[in-house]
Amino acid sequence: MGLPTLQEPVSHRHRKRGHFRLPLSIVSAVGVILFLQFSILPRYISKSSPEALAVSQLQLQRLDAGLAKCAEFNAPVVQYEKPVSAARENSRWNSKSGQNDTIMLRNATVFDGESFVKGPVDIVFQKGVVVSVMPASSTEVEGMMTVIDLGGKFVTPGLVDMHSHHLDGGWPILKATSDENEMLAKAWGPLTPFVRALDSMHAYDIATTIIASGGVTSSLILPGSANIMGGEGFMVKNILRSGPNGEEVVEEILLEHGIPVTERRRYMKMACGENPQGLYGHTRMGNAFIFREQMATAEDLRQKQDMWCKNAMAARSSGDSEAIARLTVNGGLPESLKLDSTVAMLRGKIGINVHCYETEDMWDMIQHSKEFNFRIQAFHHALEAWKVPEMLKDSGENITVATFSDFSLYKKEAYGANLYAGKILAEHRVPIAYKSDHGEEQTNAKYLLFQAANGHAFGLPADLALQSVTSVPAKSLEMDHRIGYLRPGYDADIAVWDSHPLSLGATPLQVYIDGKATLDPVQVEKSRSKVKLQNTKIQESPVSRPTLDTDVKEKLCQNVETPGSKVVITGITRSYLGSSKTKSSSSGNYTMVMTGGEISCFGIHDECLSASKGGTIIELKNGHVLPGLTAMTVNLGLSEITAEPSTSDGGIPKGDVMDPEAVSYAKYGVHLEGRAFKRAKIGGVTRAITPPLIDTWSEQKSFLSGVSVGIKTSEKKTLLDGGIFKDDVALHVTIGQDSKSEQFPSISSVIAKLRKLLTVSAGKDTIYGKVANGTFPLVVTVENKYDIMQLIKIKQDHPNINLVLKGGAGMPFVAEELAAANIPVILTSHRGAPDSFEKLDTLIGPPLTRSPASILTDAGVTFALAINGFSDPYIHNLPLEAGWVAKYSGLDDDAAVNLVSRNVEKILGLNVDEETRDWVVYEGNPLEFGASVVLAVDGLDKEIVSCWPYSE
Ligand SMILES: *[C@@H]1O[C@H](CO)[C@@H](O)[C@H](O)[C@H]1NC(C)=O
Ligand SMILES: *[C@@H]1O[C@H](CO)[C@@H](O)[C@H](O)[C@H]1NC(C)=O
Ligand SMILES: *[C@@H]1O[C@H](CO)[C@@H](O)[C@H](O)[C@H]1NC(C)=O
Ligand SMILES: *[C@@H]1O[C@H](CO)[C@@H](O)[C@H](O)[C@H]1NC(C)=O
Ligand SMILES: *[C@@H]1O[C@H](CO)[C@@H](O)[C@H](O)[C@H]1NC(C)=O
Repeated sequence: MGLPTLQEPVSHRHRKRGHFRLPLSIVSAVGVILFLQFSILPRYISKSSPEALAVSQLQLQRLDAGLAKCAEFNAPVVQYEKPVSAARENSRWNSKSGQNDTIMLRNATVFDGESFVKGPVDIVFQKGVVVSVMPASSTEVEGMMTVIDLGGKFVTPGLVDMHSHHLDGGWPILKATSDENEMLAKAWGPLTPFVRALDSMHAYDIATTIIASGGVTSSLILPGSANIMGGEGFMVKNILRSGPNGEEVVEEILLEHGIPVTERRRYMKMACGENPQGLYGHTRMGNAFIFREQMATAEDLRQKQDMWCKNAMAARSSGDSEAIARLTVNGGLPESLKLDSTVAMLRGKIGINVHCYETEDMWDMIQHSKEFNFRIQAFHHALEAWKVPEMLKDSGENITVATFSDFSLYKKEAYGANLYAGKILAEHRVPIAYKSDHGEEQTNAKYLLFQAANGHAFGLPADLALQSVTSVPAKSLEMDHRIGYLRPGYDADIAVWDSHPLSLGATPLQVYIDGKATLDPVQVEKSRSKVKLQNTKIQESPVSRPTLDTDVKEKLCQNVETPGSKVVITGITRSYLGSSKTKSSSSGNYTMVMTGGEISCFGIHDECLSASKGGTIIELKNGHVLPGLTAMTVNLGLSEITAEPSTSDGGIPKGDVMDPEAVSYAKYGVHLEGRAFKRAKIGGVTRAITPPLIDTWSEQKSFLSGVSVGIKTSEKKTLLDGGIFKDDVALHVTIGQDSKSEQFPSISSVIAKLRKLLTVSAGKDTIYGKVANGTFPLVVTVENKYDIMQLIKIKQDHPNINLVLKGGAGMPFVAEELAAANIPVILTSHRGAPDSFEKLDTLIGPPLTRSPASILTDAGVTFALAINGFSDPYIHNLPLEAGWVAKYSGLDDDAAVNLVSRNVEKILGLNVDEETRDWVVYEGNPLEFGASVVLAVDGLDKEIVSCWPYSE
């Protein structure tokens, strides 16, 4: 198999010497023979009897070609010198377009890939390589050098993402370039180890530049995870057109560009669990067999090859012509293009990276690795790895867990995730890397660092958190002689950050790749025009969320939750409550006394001294009191595991959308508990608005979702005792690509229907009648600016309607018009991405563009904030997202808090009274990383509904 067939061999004779090009990946024996026969030895052959001599010569050449391959088989994978020599050269550098000046970054605070370097340093790099990292000096530099004074700013190595699908797919996602999964050609089945991500790469994917703007300079581009063996992956640098001619050349984005192909690293992508199980109709049993059979077949070939090599060596030295004849019949060394990468796995030539979530799947794959003697470099996703760190270690393979910090819950194998996984794995000394799985807005690799910061917030020590996106993935991929560190001899991939890299919203001010600046400083400044970061804030290192020992917590919470008990909280530094009983928007050092959820005193310590008597005291260091937050959720309470229909209320019925009787009501399907509820509680989200479920993963779509319900997240209430705080909140529809359905196959047909619905419903005593006269809000999920303009026109024609837009991408382009038309917005993509054609002009946000929220703010649009997704695994990040928006929009902390509380209420007409609203006490500032909820109080029921809530 795989040997190229010879076509028109005679014509080859006329070719000039050196005209033959050998295939790069597998130098086929036949190719070598042809090369020798026709290029190097023509005279020799023509002088002799053509038949006899040609044959024996051919045999010898086959033998030698095979033996050359044998030597390759036995050669170890290239090992590079470590520590790295400062004189190393960057193989990607070229004299025409490479870094041509020497740059010194002066006075940097450096994380070098392992830890923070003590004191400020100066970094010098040239020709794409770091030359020196030295204690900062203030003396004049000698020689020609571009000196950039960083004034103590944070600098890290360029980040390394060990799991991305950009370039293979490409933004905007189009059918024509969706090349990640070799899946649709079912004939090949779930085993496609022979395909290479390289052959799919679109070296113009705009995501590459977006990703680099997040400081991510290197990525491992992997085939998708549909198949048990998905194919080979490749490392790239996230800089397009970096070759000498500045063209879109795939070869020139490869990290190992400039290194001989035979010496390059190879990576195999594999997958366990649900994907191959669901796509090909085999169980895990079947998939395991299919894989083992493949390995056995490859092992068989490997042994044949080794046997051949042994015999060929012997025959070569003895000159045994009979043996040579036997060994060279049928082309010589046994080979197979289809099995090449699998055999290479068995020879230890390929790093194995396996998409594997669950404990049983990881265990199974480890057994396979023992049976067939290959080493697993990393388990990817691996959201349940935290349950079995010792099992992973016992494998002896030093397997890296390349995971998400909080993306989870969307399918069964992602349901056992733990927000503390990083911390737990680190405690067991399992190497941990965070990775993006970049493919769409949800997984935008630009925000890789946010995952490390989030891991740190949940207890992963700071150095390990930063290693998880630098040196750990670099080491795991055996690229730590070039990337992952900021040290002499390493590639000059360097990110300069605007704040501590583990702080919220840390954003690059400059990103160097191979020594070349990739950001335009003018553009960066413009993107930051609203940022007001104080110097002290830049230097602050963020803390992890505080926790209480279980026994302390149990005792405390038992006391606190006893009905009628008095609680005294000291050390409150900031309150955002508007109640007459508290100091609104006050900061200082306050004490709060409450009895049964009712505040009896709020003031400086002495003021509340007498009221405090006999209370349970909770001493805080940096207490914050916020309104209970309100989340507009994706499907909270309606679907527990998005990909499992049996855990959800179900989709939208097909019916006549004009019939108000056919409208779905979330209130009839909602459940008031689940994993995301626990996450809501640790974020201080006390209320949620959930629209009826449009099953985004199914083909059955509808533009009309139905009527949302308002629920409490405490899990203490049921449907029968106040768990639903508002039955009917708003009517939800979607307009855009997601609204195309069998019934309404175009956006234009949906717009027409919506118009008709408003016209014919006016004056009718139905839900639509209420929407038409504006007594009931209409929430339209929409992204594209033209679709938004259509909605503005509808509002102009029906000025009474209470129109609310939810979404993001196109909003900034019509911000003035939205403000003028008095249309409020629930922004879901303040960190949006142009992942689809309809969102192509999404404002990507700093450092490339201004943030969408800053434009809405400037235009005076009333807006609130919500988080998008397949489900609600990030719901606890709601206050963080608000803090992030505020940083880039120039909003103060009060406005930030309002984005996720009062503005939501106002926009949806929830009419919450300041005296009876929920409130939440945090230790720490919830607008930054590292705050934990201490207590949450239901303002209507005057009841403590959570006490030091915990969520995995
Ligand atoms: C150095 O490179 C920059 C950016 O590619 C280019 O603008 C400049 O002309 C180059 N300078 C020299 C001396 O080649
Ligand atoms: C580095 O920058 C900091 C902050 O601007 C400054 O206080 C310090 O003096 C600088 N150190 C050197 C060596 O320039
Ligand atoms: C295991 O892998 C990690 C990260 O790749 C590396 O830091 C560590 O040195 C390795 N340990 C051993 C024993 O090889
Ligand atoms: C706040 O007040 C309490 C009580 O007077 C005191 O113990 C504590 O040290 C103060 N905290 C700060 C940060 O000033
Ligand atoms: C709006 O329509 C509903 C349903 O017909 C009706 O009950 C309500 O009174 C109307 N309100 C106004 C202000 O027109």
